[in-house]
Amino acid sequence: MADRIDLSLKINGADHSVSVHPFARLLDVLREELRLTGTKEGCGEGECGACSVLLNGRVVNSCLVPAVQAQGAEVVTVEGLAEGENLSSLQAAFLVHNGAQCGFCTPGMLVSATDLIHRCPNPSDDEIRDGLAGNLCRCTGYAKILDAVHTAAEREAAR
Ligand code: FES
Ligand code: FES
Repeated sequence: MADRIDLSLKINGADHSVSVHPFARLLDVLREELRLTGTKEGCGEGECGACSVLLNGRVVNSCLVPAVQAQGAEVVTVEGLAEGENLSSLQAAFLVHNGAQCGFCTPGMLVSATDLIHRCPNPSDDEIRDGLAGNLCRCTGYAKILDAVHTAAEREAAR
């Protein structure tokens, strides 16, 4: 087997060519090859959600996804959520509600909550808890995160 394989990846709307180990994880390619270090590694086992990204519009744990699987797909990381120079409604709401403390879970939370609001524009508390069930936070107790998601959903609905 070759030591390296060439991949063409579309990340946050931009095309990238990388040469990586055949078994490289998407998480490592994002962080180490492309320096998109917003995506975090927590458990490395698919349990914490810190590494969440969107792959063709679906939330995945990038620690479990072989980079080769992202060939030809659209990948969105936390760096791709802002609207140009402006924070997304969700990012702004996290700031206002202090939805981040240490911030380690925050990129994954933002990715999952962005997906949730797209799928479910006016989520209830239970729907938010369900939508973020794969994202663990050791700091906030989740209440501020729920508040931030509600605020962002309301802002999106009012647009
Ligand atoms: S680092 Fe991927 S789920 Fe925890
Ligand atoms: S803010 Fe620290 S883990 Fe969530």
